[in-house]
Amino acid sequence: MKALVIGGAGYIGSHLVYELIRDNHEVIIFDNLSTGNKNNVHSKAKFYLGDITNNEDLVSLLSKESNFDVVFHFAAKLIVSESMEKPLEYYYNNVEGVRTLLENMNKFKLNKIIFSSTAAVYGNPIKDICEEEDLTNPINPYGETKLICEKMIKWCSHVNNLKYGIFRYFNVAGGDKSLEIGYDYHNPNKTHLIPIITEVALGIREKLNVYGNDYDTRDGTCIRDYIHVTDLAKAHLLGAKHLLSGNDSFLLNLGSNNGYSVLEIIEATKKYAQINYEISKRREGDPSILIASNEKAKEVLNWRPELKLDDIIKTSIEYCKKIL
Ligand code: UFG
Repeated sequence: MKALVIGGAGYIGSHLVYELIRDNHEVIIFDNLSTGNKNNVHSKAKFYLGDITNNEDLVSLLSKESNFDVVFHFAAKLIVSESMEKPLEYYYNNVEGVRTLLENMNKFKLNKIIFSSTAAVYGNPIKDICEEEDLTNPINPYGETKLICEKMIKWCSHVNNLKYGIFRYFNVAGGDKSLEIGYDYHNPNKTHLIPIITEVALGIREKLNVYGNDYDTRDGTCIRDYIHVTDLAKAHLLGAKHLLSGNDSFLLNLGSNNGYSVLEIIEATKKYAQINYEISKRREGDPSILIASNEKAKEVLNWRPELKLDDIIKTSIEYCKKIL
C-alpha cells in the first residue's frame, strides 16, 4: 500500500512507519515537527514538512504525491492537563486540523482514513471495562476534541465515499525493539507514568509522585490499561488492510482487557532499579479505573496485544538509557 502518515515523526506515528516499512509498504510522512523529531523519520520514508491546519501545505503535498491507499492521522495535541489550560489550541489543532484534512482528502479523492482517538472520550467511565458502545462523556478538552473528530469523520462517511477506522487508545508506552525510536525523553513537560518512572529508575529524576492512594481500587492507586506502542502500531496496519480488503468502517478500543495500579507498575519496575516514590494528592481529572475491552478488536481485526508490561518497562528504560 501507499500510506500517508500525518504526524509520522512523532512517538506513535513513527512506530507505525517502522511497522509499515517492515511490511514493505511505501510511506510518505507529513509532520510539522512541533512535537515530532526528524530523527524519528525512517530512512526509507519520504518526509514533507507541513501542518494540516494549513490548507496550502496540504494542497501542496497532495498535488505532488497522489494515489494514497490510506491516510493515517496522528498529528494531535494530547496532553490532558495542557488541554485544560489551553482549550482553544486543542480545538484549533485537533478539530480544525482534521476538518482541513478531510476537506482535502475529499478534493483529492482519498477515501480511507485511520484515525487516532482516545480512552478520554469515555470521561469517567460508568463501568471498569470500557466497551465501544458505552456512553461517551469527555471531561477535558482533549477528549472532547477527539470525540468531535470521530463524529466529523462519521458524518463525512455518510456523504462522501469515505471509509474509516477509528482507534481509541488506552495507555500507550514502550518503544521499538530496535531502540531506534521511542518516547520523546527530551520533552521537559512529561506527565505520563511510564516515562516518569523510567527516569526515576535511571536516576534522572529523584522520585515519583503517586497521585493518590485513596481510590476505590485494590491498593488505593489508579488502575490503567497499558499497551505497548508496537502492538498498537500493528493494529493500525491490520486496520488499514481490513479497509483495503473492502470491509466496513470500524471503531475499536486498543487495550488489553487488563489493568495495573500505579503501585503494581512500581513493583514491576523494581526488577530494573530501586524506585523512590512518595504518595501525593490526587491529580485533577483522573478516573480511578480505565481498562479497555478488546473483544471487538479481536473479532474485527483478529488483533490482540502480544507484548507484556515487562516489555513496556524494559524497552522504555533501554531506549531512555540509549538516548540520554
Ligand atoms: N501517575 C502518577 N504519577 C505520575 C504520573 C502519573 O501517579 O507522575 C498516575 C496517574 O494518576 C494515573 C496513572 O499514573 O493514575 C497513569 O497516568 P498517565 O498520565 O500515564 O496516563 P493517563 O491515564 O492520565 O492518560 C491516558 C492517556 C491520555 C488519555 C487518558 C484517558 O495518556 O492520552 O489516558 O483517560 F487521554
